[in-house]
Amino acid sequence: MKVTIVGAGNVGATCADVIAYRGIASEVVLLDIKEGFAEGKAMDIMQCATTTGFNTRVIGSTNDYTKTANSDVVVITSGIPRKPGMTREELIGINAGIVKSVADNVLRHSPEAIIVVVSNPMDTMTYLTLKATGLPKHRVIGMGGALDSSRFKYFLSQALEKPGNDVQGMVIGGHGDKTMIPLTRIASYNGSPVSQFLSQDVLDKVAADTMVGGATLTGLLGTSAWYAPGASVAYLVDSILNDQRKMIPCSVMLDGEYGQSDICIGVPCIIGRKGLVEIVDVNLDDKEKDLFAKSADAVRNMNADLQS
Ligand code: NAI
Repeated sequence: MKVTIVGAGNVGATCADVIAYRGIASEVVLLDIKEGFAEGKAMDIMQCATTTGFNTRVIGSTNDYTKTANSDVVVITSGIPRKPGMTREELIGINAGIVKSVADNVLRHSPEAIIVVVSNPMDTMTYLTLKATGLPKHRVIGMGGALDSSRFKYFLSQALEKPGNDVQGMVIGGHGDKTMIPLTRIASYNGSPVSQFLSQDVLDKVAADTMVGGATLTGLLGTSAWYAPGASVAYLVDSILNDQRKMIPCSVMLDGEYGQSDICIGVPCIIGRKGLVEIVDVNLDDKEKDLFAKSADAVRNMNADLQS
């Protein structure tokens, strides 16, 4: 199984690293526009093979798409990340041009690939990729909900003072500080609703911390985060390549689901070998439905910027 990651920066290289040491794919091609950069990252990762014990072959390429031929999955992490004080939405102009040309290039060499879009603003970049390539909706998947949900579970586990693995939670909606929706009502700890253990005030704080989780890290690091983003992409790629059919919140094209159409936004999805297998209908209450409609409006406004 072959995976190409376009953009060998912080998120792309971390994703390649996780894919390699977890043996998710047999081959990973890291491609970047910066001369020698992807080759350097690939060599550095490969020099871990004997100490961490993996067999995945990771190679680098400076913009040579022939090396990416016949990839099963292509991850797009190329583009600029945000700096402190910036929103994800401010990246739209530059990243739209990059994502569109990258999608064209990868499909020329891997016409059957499933495309995972990571570059921000991710929901709009996913929409752009679908429209620009004309691919069927099951083959273009935006990664954001997996990361936001892992941050949500982290903050829940901190509040519960319990291990994160025992906590279940999901974030849907747009992948923006103001548009994501941490579903506290259905979050659980070992099968019991977290509301049995945490007050509404604490749950509200967990939700608020989750929503600014990326911005908090950008403030601390001086650029956007990479360990959890890279691992979240690898988690999604694993479900695709190995047909795991995990339920993962992803940004996909909606055709009436959750009351929305002609928009890519985060909803719970079953993800398998064909990409999107099924959108899962979680019964939202009226307040959640209202938040989802508002989130969709914000994403739609962002998509309108693609035309301007
Ligand atoms: P980075 O700056 O470390 O890496 C980006 C890489 O893309 C650079 O190495 C750059 O040379 C390369 N690049 C730029 N144009 C290219 C092109 N045309 N072809 C090939 N490579 C090209 O940035 P980082 O931190 O890895 O973030 C990448 C993107 O992912 C950003 O847009 C960021 O906002 C987004 N992101 C999305 C997340 C999500 O949950 N969806 C989470 C974290 C970051």
